[in-house]
Amino acid sequence: MNTAIILAAGQGTRMNSRTAKVLHKVGNKSLLQHVIDASKPLVNSINVIIGHHSESVKQTTSNEAINWVNQKEQLGTGHAVQQAIPHINDNSICLILYGDVPLIKTETLEKLIHKAKPSGFSLLSVELENPFGYGRIIRDSNNAIQSIIEQMDASKDQIKVTEINTGIMAIQGLLLKKYLAELEPNNFQGELYLTDIVEKAVKDNVNIASFICESVTEVMGINDKNQLSQAERVYQQDQANDLMSKGLTIMDPKRFDCRGKLNFGNDCVIDVNVVFEGDNDLGKNVLISPNCIIKDSKIGDHAHILPNSIIENSIIGSNTSIGPFARIRPDTEIGNHSKIGNFVEVKKSSIQNNSKVSHLSYIGDSKIGSDVNVGAGVITCNYDGVNKFQTEIKDGAFIGSNSQLVAPVTVGENATIGAGSTITQNTPDDQLTLSRNKQSTISKWKRPLKK
Ligand code: UD1
Ligand code: CA
Repeated sequence: MNTAIILAAGQGTRMNSRTAKVLHKVGNKSLLQHVIDASKPLVNSINVIIGHHSESVKQTTSNEAINWVNQKEQLGTGHAVQQAIPHINDNSICLILYGDVPLIKTETLEKLIHKAKPSGFSLLSVELENPFGYGRIIRDSNNAIQSIIEQMDASKDQIKVTEINTGIMAIQGLLLKKYLAELEPNNFQGELYLTDIVEKAVKDNVNIASFICESVTEVMGINDKNQLSQAERVYQQDQANDLMSKGLTIMDPKRFDCRGKLNFGNDCVIDVNVVFEGDNDLGKNVLISPNCIIKDSKIGDHAHILPNSIIENSIIGSNTSIGPFARIRPDTEIGNHSKIGNFVEVKKSSIQNNSKVSHLSYIGDSKIGSDVNVGAGVITCNYDGVNKFQTEIKDGAFIGSNSQLVAPVTVGENATIGAGSTITQNTPDDQLTLSRNKQSTISKWKRPLKK
């Protein structure tokens, strides 16, 4: 039986934001959610201590089975953990975490819990080149942990210690309750320090297991926007490393962003400055060229997304090419061996196999068959200012350049539409339809002269 206690009641003044600190995002996921996700596989219950912005914190994290604990006044980290006491089982191991330390890994926490098993208490520390501001880990001549001293309370010698308290610890419920009850605000800040339980445990002959975290970034706290951006880059690099180890080719991991989940087949290549959002699925041998944004989409085998294209909530078939400069809006499905070319916008439409919309078109609320060729500059006029209507283009049709299809309208199978036509009625199969004035020349016409 393990329990997580996540401290998230602080204000986060240095963020200079109206959003709660723990709701700022890394990889488009809130800091708090990262901590919840890291601890979830290891615990039976999660208690989150909230205070500032408590309503928005709860709402944003609402679909989780979380026990929300209010800390009305923020009287220190020890006081924060005290609020969770009624929810703690004596025999459980309590994992104490900070809502603003988002990059902590499940494996690290698992080891920390394991280390707490013999004595009932383990601490996660880290060596820092510059330990300023952190609580220092004080050890005796046998290297056993004695206490944690905060920056403001440290002596000249203690300040030189470079091993610091990450704040993350694992402790048996019974011990935690006992030492929390003994806390007093005897320190520079007049707060109830959680860290004081260390000295109390040592006095009680508890042998505190120490675990020095190898990675500095894993335990970094986020207090301002600089640290937030650092955490984002660390997170993205970690993710890129993981994806590359699974076989994804990333041209430059420093210019790669995945804000969600990415599945992919063999031999996919992601060029620079591609942003993935939400859940994306790439088939085999998919090439994404520079500067694309791909959100909640599925892209088939051997597809090529050319530079500067945006694809959202859509399905792209295999061997199909999109872009450059294409925008595929939600609820679009494009078949196999098809082509969407430059400056083409497609919205809520289906386009079957072997069809082409190569240049400068708007296709909205449309159903386009296979082997269709849509010429340059064709517009489906789907909106009368109030309602939206459907356009259907059947298999094998050819739509001449710069035509407008005023919906609702159907173009028949193998039909041809002459360039520059405005089509307002259904057109028959197999025939040429055009709607434009015959070309005429006015003889003896003169350009007006300037008066
Ligand atoms: C704390 C530790 C310090 C450690 C550092 C690591 C103590 C006394 N000190 O210091 O040893 O090196 O973290 O970052 O524990 N919080 C509440 N309620 C409160 C006070 C704080 O929920 O009443 C939350 C904050 O929102 C924050 C976390 O606890 O997420 C840490 O609090 P903070 O005041 O930042 O502690 P530090 O001074 O950084
Ligand atoms: Ca802090």
